[in-house]
Amino acid sequence: MNSELLTLGIESSCDDTGLAILRGQHEVLSSALSSQIASHSRYGGVVPELASRMHQEAILPLLEQVLEEAGVSEPASQIGLIAVTAGPGLIGSLLVGVMTAKALAQGWNIPLVGVNHLEGHIFTNVAANNDLKPPFISAIVSGGHTELVLVKDFGSYELLGSTRDDAAGEAYDKVAKILGLGYPGGPVIDKLALQGDPASYQLPTPLSGTDEIEFSFSGLKTAAVTIVRKAEEAGQQLGLENFCASFQRAVVSSLTNKTALAVKKTGVRRLTLSGGVAANSGLRAALTEMSDKRGWELFLPPKAICTDNAVMVAAAGYSNFMRGITSDMTLSPSPSWEIW
Ligand code: KG4
Ligand code: ZN
Repeated sequence: MNSELLTLGIESSCDDTGLAILRGQHEVLSSALSSQIASHSRYGGVVPELASRMHQEAILPLLEQVLEEAGVSEPASQIGLIAVTAGPGLIGSLLVGVMTAKALAQGWNIPLVGVNHLEGHIFTNVAANNDLKPPFISAIVSGGHTELVLVKDFGSYELLGSTRDDAAGEAYDKVAKILGLGYPGGPVIDKLALQGDPASYQLPTPLSGTDEIEFSFSGLKTAAVTIVRKAEEAGQQLGLENFCASFQRAVVSSLTNKTALAVKKTGVRRLTLSGGVAANSGLRAALTEMSDKRGWELFLPPKAICTDNAVMVAAAGYSNFMRGITSDMTLSPSPSWEIW
């Protein structure tokens, strides 16, 4: 380990441009994000063309900002590594980050490492906790992914289960769209859910009866949409808070049930949560309660770094680099890079 090495992390796989400078594995010297949510929300989701153009506009000003905030005036001699998300993600968005990273690595003559975005999410918790060591189970729950991964060691992963169809965050976003709550849907539904009664509406907990570690959210979404439509047709007012609470309970139950199954099947009782949905208050509370009762060791990331950011990318890149992994100038984006 080289606890003094400075890593510049770059994230541009979806709709957030993130840059960060990390010292060693844990010390964040600077981190900056440019969220595109306001531009995409009027379309109800991420528009890929718009996303890549906005990354292009944001990336160099953010670079200047993180260098300055970290007190790096001579990057060629002070930065020791550039870590960039190379996939999975939107091709045009990934291209902006990867090409910028390659240009900087070549110009400054420093090593480069392409990072898998999902490995990045796992490292959210590693960056935030000095004492998190493998093995642990990582629940990655975002707008694009719902995966339970066994981290046997850094760099050694086993996919325990994933979603058959929609990701959990995607279900939040789709239901929010039907309710006219805008994009992204997770934070709004979460807030409304806190004021509602989860027993008000009957919504199914997906795959609750099976002994398989897998998720499915499209049936739940359809059930939710059907309730909304029926209420509209009957001219009835939907109890928005109650409906959101019922929907949230179904999603959270599915996530916690399958996490418990993963603990049972692997015997690993240390857990981490990451991805945008890790900011969900219902999920955080339910997993905390379950962990307290069952004696699991739970690591929750600070809410601010649940969604996509460059700290996680720098942390994963640093770990790879310490294991001897680097990329060369042939690095190119892999929109559907499967790491496990
Ligand atoms: O990790 P992320 O920024 O991007 C992906 O890699 O997908 O996650 C974004 C997703 C969106 O679907 C958003 O609705 C969801 O995370 N999200 C939430 C909450 N905050 C963000 N979902 C539920 N509750 C929240 N509080
Ligand atoms: Zn993500």
